[in-house]
Amino acid sequence: MKKIMIVFGTRPEAIKMAPLVKELKKHDEFEVKVCVTAQHREMLDQVLELFSIKPDFDLDIMEHGQTISDITNKIIKGMEGIFKEYKPDILLVHGDTTTTFASALAAFYQKIVVGHVEAGLRSGNIYSPYPEEMNRMLTGRIAKLHFSPTKGNEQNLLKENIEKEDIFITGNTVIDALMDVVQADYLFNNELDDIDFDGKKVALLTCHRRENWGKPMEDIFNAIKEEVETNEDFMVIFPMHLNPNIRKLAKKIMGNTNRIKLIEPLDYEPFANLIKKSHLILTDSGGIQEEAPAFGKPVLVLRTETERPEAVEYGTVKVVGVNKKDIRRNISLLLNNEDEYNKMKNATNPYGDGKACQRIAQILKERNL
Ligand code: UD1
Ligand code: UDP
Repeated sequence: MKKIMIVFGTRPEAIKMAPLVKELKKHDEFEVKVCVTAQHREMLDQVLELFSIKPDFDLDIMEHGQTISDITNKIIKGMEGIFKEYKPDILLVHGDTTTTFASALAAFYQKIVVGHVEAGLRSGNIYSPYPEEMNRMLTGRIAKLHFSPTKGNEQNLLKENIEKEDIFITGNTVIDALMDVVQADYLFNNELDDIDFDGKKVALLTCHRRENWGKPMEDIFNAIKEEVETNEDFMVIFPMHLNPNIRKLAKKIMGNTNRIKLIEPLDYEPFANLIKKSHLILTDSGGIQEEAPAFGKPVLVLRTETERPEAVEYGTVKVVGVNKKDIRRNISLLLNNEDEYNKMKNATNPYGDGKACQRIAQILKERNL
């Protein structure tokens, strides 16, 4: 039996690794152990519960006000202990968080092979997203197997001299997760059911990136508030990230504005269904840039670049930057110009067909580890 350990720590990694845990556990050839760092606690536990995953190991590292070095230190030391107890043939990590990089490094120290899921995304700027761009580059150096969502991701890795035979284009596992939770005629069973999704133009907002903390985030929130105030049929729902700094600023700027709903982070199932019901998406998140195009929802990316250019090429995603004027102009265009809206609402899905996890399982069966 091949001993496989899957590690993750934050909400997006959990969402994208959950379908892989489920898939690998179906195969008798594998012994599968799940380790969580709990870099996030509540936002991670929401996902574990939804997908009925009980971790075999839990480092439980989250602290309020944690710095990147705090997270890195605790994970490197914590994973060393776990690898003494259980030495897998391969450690699977996901994406670009500090959990990803620190766990990969800890595995390298024990000479454990690393497989990188969602490999090869690059923005080209090591400070944006920060620290994610560097996390994924360093993880790419450590990993032996690279599971890339798209051909473009493969190209990025080839440019960094990764061997072609070690790269596999699988699609993104987020589409596997999405297909699991989206339903026709979904009911939230809370106050979200009272929202008039047909009569109002509802935007779903998420915002959390480190490089947006401070002035960019103030500009983003002010732009949104002013657009809501000037467009009577425009409404915004913001499930706020649990980072206290973000919540404080959001409440200060948007807390008293009619038609802006600041709510708690949603479980993945209602969140995915809310994407489907919304008119447009405003986000600096990575994963949502992959999910919303599957429903043909226009996405305005509140960042200066993206490592996910595929949906930009199809026209469903537009990178609008973090200046107040630019954000207002682009929101206003989508609200008031039907042609512009229709141009963006293509249902395209460059990120997969929902079978990424099956492909990864097959590759792990075939490869000698
Ligand atoms: C982290 C990742 C980022 C990823 C994001 C997804 C790093 C450096 N950052 O950023 O790549 O896009 O997760 O959301 O790896 N908090 C809670 N409960 C939770 C989660 C967070 O209270 O369940 C609060 C804590 O006060 C914590 C803070 O949020 O200290 C920040 O969490 P952290 O993981 O350091 O950074 P994120 O901004 O969430
Ligand atoms: N998400 C969620 N509930 C929310 C907000 C986001 O389940 O309230 C999901 C979303 O569908 C996507 C993922 O969380 O799959 C994105 O996470 P986040 O924005 O925290 O991180 P990023 O993708 O930017 O790394």
